[in-house]
Amino acid sequence: MSSTPVLPNIPVMVPWLGEEEAEAAAEAVRSGWVAQGPRVAAFERAFAEYLGVEHAVAVSSCTTALHLALIGAGVGPGDEVVVPSLSFIATANAVTYVGAVPVFADVDPATGNLTAATVEPLLTGRTRAVIAVDQGGVPVDLDAVRAAVAPRGVTVVEDAACGAGSVYRGRPVGAGADLAAYSFHPRKLLTTGEGGMVTCRDGELAARLRRLREHGMSVSAADRHASAGGANLLETYDEIGFNHRMTDIQAAVGLVQLRKLPAMVARRRELADRYRELLAGTGLRLVADPEHGTTNYQSCWVLPPDGAPDRAELLARLAGAGVSARRGIMAAHLEAPYKGSARVPLPATELLTRRSLILPLFHALTEEQQDRVAAALRAALG
Ligand SMILES: Cc1ncc(COP(=O)(O)O)c(C=O)c1O
Repeated sequence: MSSTPVLPNIPVMVPWLGEEEAEAAAEAVRSGWVAQGPRVAAFERAFAEYLGVEHAVAVSSCTTALHLALIGAGVGPGDEVVVPSLSFIATANAVTYVGAVPVFADVDPATGNLTAATVEPLLTGRTRAVIAVDQGGVPVDLDAVRAAVAPRGVTVVEDAACGAGSVYRGRPVGAGADLAAYSFHPRKLLTTGEGGMVTCRDGELAARLRRLREHGMSVSAADRHASAGGANLLETYDEIGFNHRMTDIQAAVGLVQLRKLPAMVARRRELADRYRELLAGTGLRLVADPEHGTTNYQSCWVLPPDGAPDRAELLARLAGAGVSARRGIMAAHLEAPYKGSARVPLPATELLTRRSLILPLFHALTEEQQDRVAAALRAALG
């Protein structure tokens, strides 16, 4: 009796982790220093060097990085912060955490990002900041957004959660921002399990962010421990801080992953180009580089053509063929905490969130698997 072999499902994302990361994490454990310590400091230096920026402060996630960045930008109760609704909800939530109000702006349907034109009409006397997201790794046009808001003294915080490895006007994404926040969650290219980084230009601000991530302590626990006179090095607590620390185990993994980042980006861009060829003629629009930079393809999303089956049907057909795709980026203004709060229509956001889908794309994706995804998608489109 013959049976058709069952092919394994193709996941949407698998982090590229290996023995080197396992060994680095084990070494941190063996050292006995598992909380924030020398490896976190080394990871910060390496990340700052990769970006070409002065200051990088490692934290527990991009959500906590955004939280600190907004405090650093002086945002507080009564302020408004313009954000894209088309983003993971953490972008809007960080604004709410500091007592401010997220004001949702629409995006360019080609990139999924804010533009000067979508931000400008939402600026009021209360606007204190804008969070410009590099959605799915596509670099936002930071200079254009900044030029639009600069006359009002509004700070632009870059949410580069998805952006490590992308390039904006010749520099790594986030390098040109006053404040930028990164994520090292496993859905991103560079992962530390959970983790994040906030970067800034100003030394005093960086020192304050370091204190805020560690309960507001004037002397870090690591510095006290390392100092010979630690017992006499008394810390003070001059403002309310948080526990937003990264661990040395995570940083050890991050140091290895950072070295692999160029290879990860190159492979993803190769695979994305291959998808473009395999899906030619289907009418699907695949996310692409904007004119001002290059994407790391953290999210490889496609927009089906008019007349295609609806997204739920497409996802069901793909799942039936053993392909795990995902809905496209969410829209915060359609979720319970922010429902009804949009001040202007958000047509591009609603189109992308309703229709787009994210295809499997990860370092170890094989060409055979990619052929299967493309064939399944062609069949699903009918
Ligand atoms: C644009 C954006 N901002 C913030 C976050 C939150 O990142 P983290 O999970 O590291 O807190 C994400 C996560 O997906 C994101 O995509």
